[in-house]
Amino acid sequence: MVSQTILKAKSEGKLQKQICKVVLDHFEKQYIKELGDVWTTVREVLSSPQCWQYAVLLNKFNYSSELEKDLHLKGYRRAFQEPLPYLPESLKCYISSTPGRFLAQKHRVGKLKEYYLLNAASLLAVLALEVKDGEKVLDMCAAPGGKSIALLQCACPGLLHCNEYDSLRSRWLQETLESFIPASLMNTITVDELDGRCIGDLHPNAFDKVLLDAPCSNDKSWLFSSDIQQATEMISHRKELSTIQVQLLRSAIKALHPGGSLVYSTCTLSRAENSDTINHILNSSSNIVPEDISEMASAVSWEFTLADGIQKHELLVLPERGKAWGPMYMAKLKKALSKEN
Ligand SMILES: C[S@@+](CC[C@H](N)C(=O)[O-])C[C@H]1O[C@@H](n2cnc3c(N)ncnc32)[C@H](O)[C@@H]1O
Repeated sequence: MVSQTILKAKSEGKLQKQICKVVLDHFEKQYIKELGDVWTTVREVLSSPQCWQYAVLLNKFNYSSELEKDLHLKGYRRAFQEPLPYLPESLKCYISSTPGRFLAQKHRVGKLKEYYLLNAASLLAVLALEVKDGEKVLDMCAAPGGKSIALLQCACPGLLHCNEYDSLRSRWLQETLESFIPASLMNTITVDELDGRCIGDLHPNAFDKVLLDAPCSNDKSWLFSSDIQQATEMISHRKELSTIQVQLLRSAIKALHPGGSLVYSTCTLSRAENSDTINHILNSSSNIVPEDISEMASAVSWEFTLADGIQKHELLVLPERGKAWGPMYMAKLKKALSKEN
């Protein structure tokens, strides 16, 4: 009886996500200090799922012109219309200023999916990486695979090595890849289930590009935690995330070929997991330098709300009503050519 009521409520869209007060109070204290008044507008969007927006990333390996027509009819337009330092024509992403989600696509046996729904800010990390055909690329924390799919829309890497530590999520990653990428390309993609912190030692100097979309205190999902005890525990262990992020970054740097670049990204506003982590790496590694992404940041600043006071090698996307993208932090670093690894 209860489950029938839940099913009915679900189908009528009546089940509302509940804000977890413990998490909100914790964020409130931290983010008012770090972001000042901006936090008030960001909090309003973060705590209102009805304002959230989802972009539609077309799958270049299988989409129809009917889909594009339908997107236009529903008020969607192409994202990234300003000239960007790197924007392959093959990357087609549609966004709408109206909140909501385009219909999710079911799995169809033997047919590739036509599109992937994602936070448009996620694509900035992929664009900043500037992957070229033939390059060896590592996606160190890859599940469920949204950014791997986006990378493959941009270029044909000689090798895309997707890694995910959690075995359930690794299976999910594998399924995503199989649903979007033709079998003929799968021989250029490898999937591994390692702790990313080991990859640098296992594959030193092996990759031209590394994407480190790090485990972080995912603000949007933490805010709607349904288990107060679990949320309290996550908050008390929050500081440990920075330690893991630094270890993953060190491994990513080792795995990079000298002269290669890495993009680090998170979906939290937390300074400790963003600029502080990157500054720690920059101040303690002799073989890594910041890479300027300010040209890309200014080209996307009309579509995304970006935090002020940020350095040229980083950007922070702040969700705002009508531009409810992010939170998303990213920084780009380059491994020096001449120094020891
Ligand atoms: C932010 S999510 C990645 C999202 C993914 N890049 C995408 O775009 O779909 C971070 C992932 O890192 C994984 N992870 C956590 N610790 C890890 C580690 N030590 N090594 C590798 N992956 C790890 C988590 O299980 C999680 O799936």
